[in-house]
Amino acid sequence: MCKPRKYLLAALCGLLSLSALADTVLYPGVGRNATAAEVAKWDIDVRPDFAGLPKGQGTVAQGQIVWEAKCAACHGVFGESNQTYNPISGGVQAQDVVSGHVANLQDKAYPARATLMKLATVSTLWDYINRAMPWYAPKSLSTNEVYAVTAFVLHLDGIVADDFVLNEKTITQVQQRMPNRDGMNTRHHLWPGNEFGGLAAPDVSSVACMSACKTEVSITSSLPEHARDAHGNLADQNRLVGQQKGVNTLRKDKAPRACTKAENC
Ligand code: HEC
Repeated sequence: MCKPRKYLLAALCGLLSLSALADTVLYPGVGRNATAAEVAKWDIDVRPDFAGLPKGQGTVAQGQIVWEAKCAACHGVFGESNQTYNPISGGVQAQDVVSGHVANLQDKAYPARATLMKLATVSTLWDYINRAMPWYAPKSLSTNEVYAVTAFVLHLDGIVADDFVLNEKTITQVQQRMPNRDGMNTRHHLWPGNEFGGLAAPDVSSVACMSACKTEVSITSSLPEHARDAHGNLADQNRLVGQQKGVNTLRKDKAPRACTKAENC
C-alpha cells in the first residue's frame, strides 16, 4: 500500500489511487474491469497465519447437524468415505496430536492416507470447506456453519473435544494440535513416498532466479515424435487465454524447440 514519506510521493500516491478508481480499460475489447465488490467476493483465502479468516464460531454439536445434512452422504457419517471418496478421518492416534507427526504415514501397511493424517494446517481445512463444499453447492455455507462443521471434522479424529467451540481465536490452539503439523516436507519423491522406498529427493527442485536470469528457453525434454499426436492436437484442447496454451502436436518438427510468440504453439 501507499505509505508516503514525502509530500511529492503523497501527491503521486493520491493520483495513483484516483486512477485505480477510474475505469481504466487495461485490455481493450476484453470484458470489463472487476468491481471492488466482485474482487472482495473472490478474495476469500485464509492463510496459515489466519490472515483472511472472518470472525465467527461454531460448536462440534452444531457441526454434526451440518455434517449429517450436507456432507455425510458423500463422506460417510464418520468421515470414513468408504464408498467413493478418499477418507477424511481415521488413522490418527492420540500420540500424533502430541508429536505433530502421524505415525501411520510411515507404515506402508496402513491402508489409507486420510485427509487429517496428511493435513499440516487447520486454515486449509477451513478455507477448503468454505470455498468448495458441499460439492453441489460451494460457498453456500454461512461463516458460522463453516466453523461448526470444521470443528466436527476435527472432532472425528479427537483433535478437539466434543464441547469445543471453534472461533477465530480458538483456531490458533487447534493448529498446535494438528496431528501432522510438523510432518510435511518436500524431501521425497511425490510417488512413491519414503515409506514405499521412494528416493529422499524431490521430483522438482529449483531456485527462483531473481537477477541475471536466462532470457532464452532451452527445452530439455519433450514428447517423443511417435507420441506427439496420440491424443489429437493438445493446442485445440486448451483455453485460448492464459499461460497454458498447449503445444501444437500436429506439427511434426524433427527437433523439438521452444516456439516463438508469432507461432500458434
Ligand atoms: C456430492 C458429494 C459431496 C458432498 C455432499 C460433500 N463433499 Fe466434500 N468432497 C467431495 C469431493 C468429490 C471431494 C474431492 C474434490 C477434489 O479433490 O477436487 C471432496 C473433498 C472434500 C474435502 C477435502 C478432502 C481432501 O483430502 O482433499 C473436505 C475437507 C470436504 N470435502 C469436506 C466436506 C464438507 C465439510 C461437506 C459438507 C459441508 C462436504 N465435503 C460435502 C464430495 C462431496
